[in-house]
Amino acid sequence: MILDKFKEQFAITVATAFQQCYPEIYRTVGDNGPFHSPDVLKGIERPKDPKMGSLAFPIFKFLPILKSKPNEVTASVAARANIILSASASPELAVTPASGYLNASIELTAVARETIGQAVTMQDKFGQSTVGNGKLNLVEYSSPNIAKPFGVGHLRTTIIGNSLRRIYKKLGYEVIGINYPGDWGTQFGKMIVAFRRWGSESTFQGEAVKNLLDLYVKFHAEAETDKSLDDEARVAFKKLEDGDPEATKLWERMKEVSFEEWSRVYGILGVEFDLVYGESFLNDKMEAVIERLQKDGLTSTSRGALVVDLNDPQLPPALLKKQDGATLYITRDLAGLIWRWEKYHFNESLYVVGVSQSDHFKQALKVIDMMEQAENLPAESRMTGRVKHVDFGWVKFGEKTMSTRQGNIIFLEDVINQAIDLAKQKIREKNPNLANFDDVAQMIGVGAVIFSQLSVRRQKDVNFDWDEVLSFEGETGPYLQYTHARLCSLERMYGKPITAQIDHSLLNHDEERLVIETIAEFEEAIQEAARLYDPNCISTYLLRLASAFNKFYQRKDDSGRIDKIISDDPDRSAARMALVQSVRIVMNEGLNLLGLRAPYEM
Ligand code: ARG
Repeated sequence: MILDKFKEQFAITVATAFQQCYPEIYRTVGDNGPFHSPDVLKGIERPKDPKMGSLAFPIFKFLPILKSKPNEVTASVAARANIILSASASPELAVTPASGYLNASIELTAVARETIGQAVTMQDKFGQSTVGNGKLNLVEYSSPNIAKPFGVGHLRTTIIGNSLRRIYKKLGYEVIGINYPGDWGTQFGKMIVAFRRWGSESTFQGEAVKNLLDLYVKFHAEAETDKSLDDEARVAFKKLEDGDPEATKLWERMKEVSFEEWSRVYGILGVEFDLVYGESFLNDKMEAVIERLQKDGLTSTSRGALVVDLNDPQLPPALLKKQDGATLYITRDLAGLIWRWEKYHFNESLYVVGVSQSDHFKQALKVIDMMEQAENLPAESRMTGRVKHVDFGWVKFGEKTMSTRQGNIIFLEDVINQAIDLAKQKIREKNPNLANFDDVAQMIGVGAVIFSQLSVRRQKDVNFDWDEVLSFEGETGPYLQYTHARLCSLERMYGKPITAQIDHSLLNHDEERLVIETIAEFEEAIQEAARLYDPNCISTYLLRLASAFNKFYQRKDDSGRIDKIISDDPDRSAARMALVQSVRIVMNEGLNLLGLRAPYEM
């Protein structure tokens, strides 16, 4: 990381300063004591308030052995540290005491040299790391349901998961992005019955998924009064489970039209997967799991159904098999958990699924934990602790709430197309002669939709509001894309090659400092996103970067005129353009990590 070099220097200095200030203590404990630079290094933090410098070291845990007041400790160690630093070859750090902390500020030219040097030479590799090397992570996302529309309800998992996959790759992990569509379950009994009663060949023509949805809705409306429908559906599903050819054929066709629709949507969104398998893939893997749980003594029967009692007042028992022998959603997930673990021995396996399924995942993971304990598995053979339900809040879409059964669902493809149309209108107003008009409009429309899903912390609800989402100002995808296009246009205007061999001392204004320091934080933002399983860390970071850049771009000189980035001072222009390119690289790469494309012009 950019700051690593300075962190090390700070740690060595602080450790030495402690040793010199408290020689009696150091003599008794030596390098096994706290004044040991690798330990100091581990304790170094980023100050909450950037005005406090770039690095901070909390001294609280030293107080018991030092037997002095915190202020005395920080004052004397800071003074000593600065003496040590001023005697070194390149004093790039200055240490200041603060309450309970030693803070260090780094000389701007040093940060600039490191940051711009790395960005300009590494280009799109800037910010990458090796923390994930040798580790395999699974990320499951999207997972829509067959014969139901791909609605905005599945948008958020698709967007968050796709971004997490990219983030892990950037950090050096091997990643397998999994799509696990719902292609099994009692709703297929309903679909089959509905098709037989009211469907025809034309159901599969035209907007097939919408037609199937109409059938599904009709089924539920009719079942309100006609109670026999539900029984008929149960029988139909049983037949499907038993491999009845006619039922299977119908099911296959429903799958086919759904997959066609999804591929189209994934194509427009630029979403990718490494592995796609539906719930039905686990059909022949459930029996073994049930037997295993039985053998572990974990199952019992409750009113004819096979269950695992979770011994938890908060969680209902996990239902493995109904009285009629039918398996359930959770039975398949248990089989899937075990299949994934045995196949991949992953470092982590994430399920990006809405918060409404929290209890489901708690139940499934509890069963796995109980199973691993019952079998006394050695730690390295246990997946418990490695599997996470990465939940997220609801998507609220104005007045409308969504329910597939009632049919008031908003189709994602319609949303995206509407966003692209709105983007076209906007571009026509602003830049009617734009080359690649259609491609840019798609980038922006899609970018707006994607960014809307990542604009708040993942556990918060998203309010999807058209005006906000497509605004070119404010905290939106188009605003970031516009900033990227502006950066590109500066490079075009400059027209000369940009190098890292610049005079860094020419970047000496507050606006430049803010941009430099923000670029230096890119890698941290990526790692935080991975740690919190939340691409929102990168969205908020990019908004900060854009705002820092725009302040720099609009900086006024002492006479109140805009301080143009490209001026008749060649050295200063070269230095500032290296900074511009660094921002452009980070903006482009950051947008890519979120799943947005970055236009050159708009
Ligand atoms: N198909 C499910 C739904 O739309 C989501 C699947 C989530 N993943 C899982 N392994 N259960 O609600």
